[in-house]
Amino acid sequence: MSARLFVGIITVSDRASSGEYEDHGGPALRQACLEFGWEVLAEAIVPDEIEAIQRTIRAFSAQGCGLVLTTGGTGIALRDVTPEAIRGILRVEIPGFGETMRMRSLEITPNAILSRSLAAIVDRSLVVALPGKPSGAVECLGFVKGAIPHSVKLAQGVPSSC
Ligand code: MTE
Repeated sequence: MSARLFVGIITVSDRASSGEYEDHGGPALRQACLEFGWEVLAEAIVPDEIEAIQRTIRAFSAQGCGLVLTTGGTGIALRDVTPEAIRGILRVEIPGFGETMRMRSLEITPNAILSRSLAAIVDRSLVVALPGKPSGAVECLGFVKGAIPHSVKLAQGVPSSC
C-alpha cells in the first residue's frame, strides 16, 4: 500500500485574496489531488507578497504537508513574486520540475514560456509552484505528478527506493 500524501494548497493572488474575484485555482488543484488519492490538509489564499507566501509555505510544512502546491504569481507581471519567495527559503531547487512543466506546456500554449514555475525543498516539504490559470495549474501538476511521491518521501527523510 502506498504511503499517505498530505497536501497544502496556496493560491497566490492579490485579487482573489481581497475577494475581488473568486478563487478557482485552489479548488481545481484540490479536485486533482483528491483524484490522485492525496489528502488536502490545508488551503489558503494569499496576496502576491513575498513574506505572506513564505510564511504560509512554512506553516503548511510545519503542519505536516509533505507537498505544498502554489498557484499563481509565476509570470512576469509587476506583482509576480512567487519564485522569489520560494527561492528565499529553499534548501535545494529541483530544476527538472520547471523544465518539464514548461516543455510539456509549450505543446499546449506558447505562453507557457512566460511561467517561471519551479519546485524546491523547503524545510521538510516539496514545494511546487504552478501557474495561476486553473487549467494550466492542473495540467502542470499532471506533467510532474509521477515524481512527487518519491520526492516527498526524500524531503521528509523517509527511506525510499526509486
Ligand atoms: N501552462 C499551461 N500548461 N497552461 C497555461 O494555460 N498559461 C501561461 C503560463 N503557463 C499556461 C501555462 C500563462 S498565460 C502565463 S502568463 C504564465 O503561465 C504565468 O502565469 P501566472 O503568472 O499566473 O503564474
